[in-house]
This record gives sequence, C-alpha cells and structure tokens, in this order.
Amino acid sequence: MKIGIIGCGNMGMAFANSFIQYNLVKKEDLLLVEKSAERGAVLQEQKAGVVVDTISEKLGEVDLIILSVKPQDFPSAAQEIKKYIKPNQLVLSIMAGIPINTIQKSIVHPLIIRAMPNTPALLGMGMTAFAAASEVGLSDIRKVENLINSTGRAVFLDQEDLLDAVTGLSGSGPAYFFYIIKQMIDAGVAMGFDPAMSSLLVKQTMLGSYHLMQTSDKTLDELIQAVASKGGTTEAALKTFMELAVGEGLQKGIFAAQKRAKELAG
Ligand SMILES: NC(=O)c1ccc[n+]([C@@H]2O[C@H](COP(=O)([O-])OP(=O)(O)OC[C@H]3O[C@@H](n4cnc5c(N)ncnc54)[C@H](OP(=O)(O)O)[C@@H]3O)[C@@H](O)[C@H]2O)c1
Repeated sequence: MKIGIIGCGNMGMAFANSFIQYNLVKKEDLLLVEKSAERGAVLQEQKAGVVVDTISEKLGEVDLIILSVKPQDFPSAAQEIKKYIKPNQLVLSIMAGIPINTIQKSIVHPLIIRAMPNTPALLGMGMTAFAAASEVGLSDIRKVENLINSTGRAVFLDQEDLLDAVTGLSGSGPAYFFYIIKQMIDAGVAMGFDPAMSSLLVKQTMLGSYHLMQTSDKTLDELIQAVASKGGTTEAALKTFMELAVGEGLQKGIFAAQKRAKELAG
C-alpha cells in the first residue's frame, strides 16, 4: 500500500511512524507532504519517507491520502488536492471539526473517512473513533481500521455526528487528565513537598489506580468506596468535591468541548 500524508506535524507523523513500525507501509511508499521548510528538513534528516514540500501529481500515485493539516489550512490545501486526486483513491481525514460532506465538496471526491485520534497515538496508545462516507466500501473501511489499530485502538461509528462527542471525550481527554494531575501536584507542593516529590507521588498513584481499575471486578463507585472509609480523610475530600460541584464542572467542560466541535463544523 502507498500512503500520502498531507501535513506532517505531530498527528500526521504519529500515524506515519506507527504504520512504519508495524510494517504496514514501506518508507519508500510513504509520501510526506510538508509545507514547513524547517519541519521538512527534519523529516529528510530522519529519512522518514519521501519528503516533498508541495502537493503535486505525485499525490495521484498513492492508495490512501491522509489529511492532517490544521483545519484552517484545509481550504487552501483542498484547492491543490482536487487538481491531482484520482477517482479510486481513499482519503482519511484526521482534522478536527470538518465534516465528511464539506471535505467531499472541497476536493470533489466521494471516498472520505473521517477520524478523531488523540495524542497518545504518538506512543501507539491512542484512541481513535472514525466514520465513513456512504460511498466507502466495507473493505476500504477495514483497511483503514487496520491502519488506525497500529496507532492504538480504533472504533467505527455509524453516526458521523458522534465524532463531536468523541472530540470532547477522548480527543481532548488527555488534556483533562493532565489538568487533574497538575491540580494534584500543585496541592502537594502547597502542602510542603518539593515539585519532584509531589509529581512522583501523584503520577505513581494515577498509574497504579489505572491498573487497579482495569484488573478489578469492582465498579468505579465500589473502588471509590474502598478508599473512602466512613468519617475518614478521603470522605472529607469527596465531600468538598461534592460541595464545589467538581464532578459537574468536569462534565460541563466536556459538553463545552463537544459544543465547540459542533461550532467548528459550521
Ligand atoms: N493534536 C491533537 O491532540 C489532535 C487530536 C485530534 C486531531 N487533531 C488534528 O490533527 C491535525 C494536525 O494537528 P497537529 O497537532 O499535528 O498540527 P501541526 O503539528 O501544526 O501539523 C500540521 C502540519 O501541516 C503543515 N501544513 C499546513 N498546510 C499544509 C499544506 N498545504 N501542505 C502540506 N503541509 C501543510 C503545517 O506547516 P506550517 O506549520 O508551516 O503551517 C504543519 O507542519 C489537525 O487538523 C487537528 O485538528 C489533533
């Protein structure tokens, strides 16, 4: 399979590197289109693939085109893509917020799959949900699913509009996780630990708790109860979270991200 990546930033290269790692594509079959001269030079240096700086007729030679420019750069990239795209080529967009039918109209092409990944894809531990235009056949959906699985987990959605909820939940999710960890580390520092010690206490707690959650047959409420004995310290923290509506605030934040994704979709 030959793959072309348009926009080789963090996300585009997270995908490209995973495909290479799992031998799903050979470097000589990976066309990397990168506008930034500086970034292009780094990719050349790394011998990451066939690096070019503009969209040209070479794009017509690949089986799959991955769109990973920032959403605001898409309209100008689309003007070039539509000149060179061939009817049988499959397009996978990982751009936030741009609906399948907008992409179809902009590049005058029906075969579009739209995915929403997240940054742990950089480590092959991403969570990506994707939806496909009705014109895309099952075997093409399977092909793309196999590719995405090399970056972490893939789930197929029948309803494209759920991708806005995915954006709010797993797309932006890593930032919520880091935000919570930061609050905990800052609290540790306020109680007298130096930042490195507070960071160790918090990060190891989160790592251990994640694995406990994944291996335990208890529900999340039961796991919370197992830490929070009656009249104890955890109960005091949970009571304060409740009084300050921390849980509700987190959920409202997630809904705000979903709303913003819908607004970006226009
Ligand atoms: N980061 C996330 O957590 C995340 C999660 C889900 C989805 N996404 C989506 O992934 C996409 C890429 O995000 P990113 O964080 O990887 O962005 P990024 O690091 O800025 O990468 C985009 C790259 O594309 C280049 N570019 C722009 N126009 C181009 C063109 N016409 N031809 C070739 N290259 C072009 C940019 O160059 P210049 O810098 O010179 O403009 C930049 O190097 C976005 O659409 C975003 O919505 C990101």
